[in-house]
Amino acid sequence: MIEFVLNNKLIKTTANAGITLVDFIRSEQQLKGTKIGCREGDCGACTVLVGTINSKNHLIYKSITSCISPLGNAHGKHIVTVEGVNLNNKLNTIQTALKNNNATQCGFCTPGFVMALVGLSLQEHLVSKQDAITAISGNICRCTGYKSIEKAAYQIFEELTQIPLNNRLNWLINHLFLPEYFLTILDRLKQIKTPNIALKNSIKVAGGTDLYVRYADNLADADVHLISQVQQKMELTFDENRCTLGANTTVSDLFYNPTFKTYFPEIHAHLKLVSSEPIRNMASLAGNIVNASPIGDMTIFLLALNAEITLKNDDNYLRTLMLKDFYKGYKKLDLHAQEHLLNIAFKLPKLACKFNFEKVSKRTHLDIASVNSALQISVVQHKIQFAHLSFGGVAPIPFYAKNTCNFLGNKILSVAILKEASQILQDEIQPISDVRGDESYKRLLARQLFYAHFLKLFSKTFKILELVS
Ligand SMILES: Cc1cc2nc3c(=O)[nH]c(=O)nc-3n(C[C@H](O)[C@H](O)[C@H](O)COP(=O)(O)OP(=O)(O)OC[C@H]3O[C@@H](n4cnc5c(N)ncnc54)[C@H](O)[C@@H]3O)c2cc1C
Ligand code: FES
Ligand code: FES
Repeated sequence: MIEFVLNNKLIKTTANAGITLVDFIRSEQQLKGTKIGCREGDCGACTVLVGTINSKNHLIYKSITSCISPLGNAHGKHIVTVEGVNLNNKLNTIQTALKNNNATQCGFCTPGFVMALVGLSLQEHLVSKQDAITAISGNICRCTGYKSIEKAAYQIFEELTQIPLNNRLNWLINHLFLPEYFLTILDRLKQIKTPNIALKNSIKVAGGTDLYVRYADNLADADVHLISQVQQKMELTFDENRCTLGANTTVSDLFYNPTFKTYFPEIHAHLKLVSSEPIRNMASLAGNIVNASPIGDMTIFLLALNAEITLKNDDNYLRTLMLKDFYKGYKKLDLHAQEHLLNIAFKLPKLACKFNFEKVSKRTHLDIASVNSALQISVVQHKIQFAHLSFGGVAPIPFYAKNTCNFLGNKILSVAILKEASQILQDEIQPISDVRGDESYKRLLARQLFYAHFLKLFSKTFKILELVS
């Protein structure tokens, strides 16, 4: 039995956990405000909010695309559709802002934008007006034009700057962002005690953002093993020099974690290059690693952190290996049928250590990479202590550039050394021509991204012309 609160209504259903949330909402519940555009997580027409009780007993809301989310992942949560933010006979503040800024024409995308902006209003740490644009980064409008939508989003952000630190929910209700029933949700979710609904020996689904794009129809009838229902999300843990991430940690968990940001100051800029806000809210690190796409951004990120992964089998036997040893060939993994990924760990970067991530894709945002790369490097008095360099899109697997890393170790950082290293890199990569670019273009990108790391991390030491001439 799957049990959750949909808007203001308790749902108990025996529908298959593998059907998409949007189909349940529209077909079973006849709530037609949530639209279907692409069914691939790209357009945002199906955006809804998911409210989850976190370890501090707070209700946290995130936007997701319901077309690629399994119904079973709603268990124990509050799902909010556009019908659930309507006020009696009145537009709410967000709808009013869209209307007043002429930010809607045919209206097909509008429920998605409304829900993304309601998600913004429920976000705890709003920093700059750029957050308003991030919130709608997963929503596409084909007819209005984005300037009027952006104006509405900025106006909403301005109003939200008045929100007090405490009593946020009451403020949102009093200022007509949300209906009053939101005050009852935390207590109602605490009543849901149904045991977990995961099934062993069936298809493992985490966020679903890879699986549902390809297999939504098959999964609708299949047994699904819902990783997030069994493997309660482990918080990110930091000890003196090590960080451990539960396999189910999402990209947004890294994005919004303040401690993570102290070690990776550029994390927001880096992760904004990964999909869009609602996808980042769903996409797990394990899903990215096990999907084994040669261009998976988070895998490239973690390879450069020289991460290790721990696998657990059905008999609770644990096995730990380096992430770089996990990939045996195109989509071939050192993973047994009875095993799942439990966690990911890496040494936290020390003071002398620098980290950078680069990605080139046809569009800057909401696109997969042609080539991506990450570098972690430690340099003391011009001498390289170690370098971990990874590349996506240049080999059949997410690629750890072992020869280049070995060469760089213990060398004095100089233009000549980098040029030599760049040649070693070219010798060890094997890009192929495909829709994202031909082989020579990818070789060029690998060279440019390699130098880009050093130009960014050592901007006082290197000038672009010295490297590329
Ligand atoms: C619109 C859109 C944009 C995207 N943009 C990007 C992008 O910019 N960069 C990028 O890298 N990716 C992108 N992706 C791909 C996807 O979001 C990521 O790969 C994501 O990390 C997958 O995680 P998930 O939890 O959704 O995986 P799922 O789809 O749930 O699972 C993926 C695979 O991992 C397996 N799996 C999941 N968890 C475990 C576990 N604990 N143990 C063993 N196996 C497991 C599943 O069985 C499945 O084979 C995008 C996807 C969409 C739909
Ligand atoms: S229908 Fe396009 S993102 Fe879901
Ligand atoms: S108003 Fe028509 S798609 Fe956005």
